[in-house]
Amino acid sequence: MTKLAVIYYSTYGTNYQMAEIAADAARAAGAEVRLLKVAETAPEAVVNSQDAWKALVEKTAHIPVATPEDMEWADAYLFSAPTRFGGAPSQMRAFIDTLGGLWFAGKLANKGVSVMTSSQSPHAGQEATTLGLYTTFMHWGCIIVAPGFTDESVAKAGGNPYGYAHTQGAEFTADVTAAIGHQARRLVEISGKIRG
Ligand SMILES: Cc1cc2nc3c(=O)[nH]c(=O)nc-3n(C[C@H](O)[C@H](O)[C@H](O)COP(=O)(O)O)c2cc1C
Repeated sequence: MTKLAVIYYSTYGTNYQMAEIAADAARAAGAEVRLLKVAETAPEAVVNSQDAWKALVEKTAHIPVATPEDMEWADAYLFSAPTRFGGAPSQMRAFIDTLGGLWFAGKLANKGVSVMTSSQSPHAGQEATTLGLYTTFMHWGCIIVAPGFTDESVAKAGGNPYGYAHTQGAEFTADVTAAIGHQARRLVEISGKIRG
């Protein structure tokens, strides 16, 4: 059974929703899944100053915070994070920056990895965010499992072969669920083959 860590950061709920869809699809494909958020690093006063942000923190209080132990446990990683000024949010980078010890010990190597993102505008950083995270995962020695155009759902849900990218305001249609599900299932399948 492939062990998948679905690790997300979300301020307003989009990436949380995407991560949940991916986790459900991976479980249905037979994977053992941990759905995890990265720790919020914004000051409490800032979080509480926005109703939607505060509400998501409360709604997701039951989701465990990702730890280095989760990274060692998993055979595969699916990261989901919004675009922030053309790149990944500092909350996600802060978690990544705690993993130097595991990286040094070779414990992040040879795991399958895939990335999803979201942004306000379709051409304001989706690919940059996804590719930027993949750059880090190449440092770790992960095996990138991008969806490519290996299923018709990819083209139907925006046509991003690097990883599903959600544009704010778009509906979570059946096509979107199918594209996220395909990406998650493909990651589980290929990571199982890598593990052998
Ligand atoms: C500080 C900040 C920076 C952002 N930068 C971008 C950006 O560069 N491009 C873009 O299209 N959207 C940008 N956005 C919009 C976010 O990508 C959008 O809120 C996010 O995709 C929502 O995901 P979430 O609901 O999981 O938090 C930014 C939002 C914030 C708060």
